Amino acid sequence: MFLKRCEYPGVTIDELYLGAIITVYARQLKVVDYGDVFTRKQFECKRSRTLAIIKPDAYAHIGKIIDAIYKNEFTINKMKMLKWSPEQAQGFYAEHKGKPFFDSLVAFMSGDVIVAMELVADRAVEKWRELIGPTNSLTARSSAPNSLRALFGTDGSKNAVHGSDSSKRLCMESDRRFCPARDRLRIL
Ligand code: CMP
Repeated sequence: MFLKRCEYPGVTIDELYLGAIITVYARQLKVVDYGDVFTRKQFECKRSRTLAIIKPDAYAHIGKIIDAIYKNEFTINKMKMLKWSPEQAQGFYAEHKGKPFFDSLVAFMSGDVIVAMELVADRAVEKWRELIGPTNSLTARSSAPNSLRALFGTDGSKNAVHGSDSSKRLCMESDRRFCPARDRLRIL
């Protein structure tokens, strides 16, 4: 194959991140890796991804949460509404096994539908965690009253939304624990 360097104004820099699907001259291409170390460094500090979940208690607020996501300049790269089995919820929250709230957390997260999203932004992990606020919605209402957990959550467990704590965890969550291989995040 011969490649020729040329300008392609139809694709902007914001659309170039790992996992993105872009169309160039009618060919659909998926960005799977960086060409070299220099390119990796330039891009990794620009656009990163995080996993966000709207929990069952925020079902009635899905529209408002998605509005807030766009207002805060995230791109929703993938989105899926699904219902976890208790085993899937246990697997996702395995690190909390043995804690007093584990069983009720599993029952809550597998009790109704959730919306899982892959968000893209500059500093996506940190930015999403800032937007959702402290874990406990009751605390959030006094310390971060405009956060999503303050606005839409119920208490320390039913807290409206989940955010990955690192992009490494995103890989684990979306690729392995999030749902069975055949059922991974797909655009709705
Ligand atoms: P999340 O960000 O999804 O990650 C772990 C979840 O466990 C957390 O949100 C809460 O839903 C729940 N959780 C964490 N700490 C407590 C707690 N002290 N009591 C009840 N639930 C908790």
